[in-house]
Amino acid sequence: MILKNIEIRNFRNYEHLKITLNKNINIIYGDNGGGKTNILESIYVLALTKSHRALTNGDLIKSGQEKAIIKGTILENMTYNLEIEIGKSQKQVKIDKEVIGKIGDYVSKMNIIIFYAEDLELIRGFPSNRRKYLNLELSQISKNYYNTLNDYHKLLRTRNEYLKKISNNERYDEGYFDILTEYLIEKSVFIYQMREKYIEKLNKICPKIYKDITKLKGFNIKYLPSVSLEDNSKDTIRKEMKKKFTDNFSKEVKFKTTLCGPHRDDFEFCLNEDNLKSFGSQGQQRVAVLALKLSEIQIFKDYKKDNPIILLDDVFSELDNEKKNNLLKYIDNDMQVVITTTDLNNLDEKLKENAKLINIKKGKIIGEVK
Ligand SMILES: Nc1ncnc2c1ncn2[C@@H]1O[C@H](COP(=O)(O)OP(=O)(O)OP(=O)(O)O)[C@@H](O)[C@H]1O
Ligand SMILES: [Mg+2]
Repeated sequence: MILKNIEIRNFRNYEHLKITLNKNINIIYGDNGGGKTNILESIYVLALTKSHRALTNGDLIKSGQEKAIIKGTILENMTYNLEIEIGKSQKQVKIDKEVIGKIGDYVSKMNIIIFYAEDLELIRGFPSNRRKYLNLELSQISKNYYNTLNDYHKLLRTRNEYLKKISNNERYDEGYFDILTEYLIEKSVFIYQMREKYIEKLNKICPKIYKDITKLKGFNIKYLPSVSLEDNSKDTIRKEMKKKFTDNFSKEVKFKTTLCGPHRDDFEFCLNEDNLKSFGSQGQQRVAVLALKLSEIQIFKDYKKDNPIILLDDVFSELDNEKKNNLLKYIDNDMQVVITTTDLNNLDEKLKENAKLINIKKGKIIGEVK
């Protein structure tokens, strides 16, 4: 999969920018604050409709403007055009000018993997960071996953509103509440099974990569689902959840929230039995995330029979030479990569040899080579 070009309008510090990208290595360089990460972010948003760092849509829109537009041409087996228009409170996506109603159908089109400094939050941060990550990866692989997750969150919101009503002794439709719970369970079963399968796949690849980089054995990712998946048949998961909902009902009413379901899942990075979150050094944590992301490349390839697009935001300054080389070793020659750096000297000569170089300053291209 190749992003042939990208055009952005009123996005972050860019009024208008159009870049044609090389099918292999692209290097965006320039001083701090020039807008390098913003370009990677625009590619990320074009693919996933959300940003990896903005809190609101408004953050993405150039100050003083009403909406941002990102367009890109993708070459897979054939060429198609993606477009996203971001307003302050809504967004619209198009494939070949046709508006796409179900975001899941859009998000599964363009596959990207981003590496950036804040990746460490995946290990150190809250469970919500890890769930978000899992959801993004699975949504890129399966539109069913995205759409089911979306339904799940809607049901969850409604169920929680009901729990509030019950807690406040307001009148409510008991039959409808039970139906909500039933539906929630159905969606949960699918989400649990997808997550479990994905982590199982990761564990087939990740430990090898971790060992290759650190020479340490025993790395694995442990899924911590909010119900036991020991017997992961649909029926058993359904029964488990039903039992939890029955047992926890008064607690749920007390807390006015749904206490069981995929929105309570987590996973951890372990070296043998130790959780790297509390036990790992910063270097070990960094390699763990690197191994995770490098495994994704393989998983995307297996699912999609095509290479994902790799975005590397300033990661070379964070890594020592050995880790840099390891990273590059796993990125195939025929993969499209977009790299940002403040200093071209941080990058390997070989990497620069065939790369397209784009020099950015204050939201403008001031130099372009190749
Ligand atoms: N909504 C917005 N409207 C206008 N300008 C914005 C907006 N959001 C961010 N910016 C500007 O974008 C610039 C930051 O861009 P970016 O993060 O891409 O820089 P960078 O080149 O990656 O820098 P660094 O090398 O420090 O990582 C800042 O100058 C910031 O003020
Ligand atoms: Mg940056």
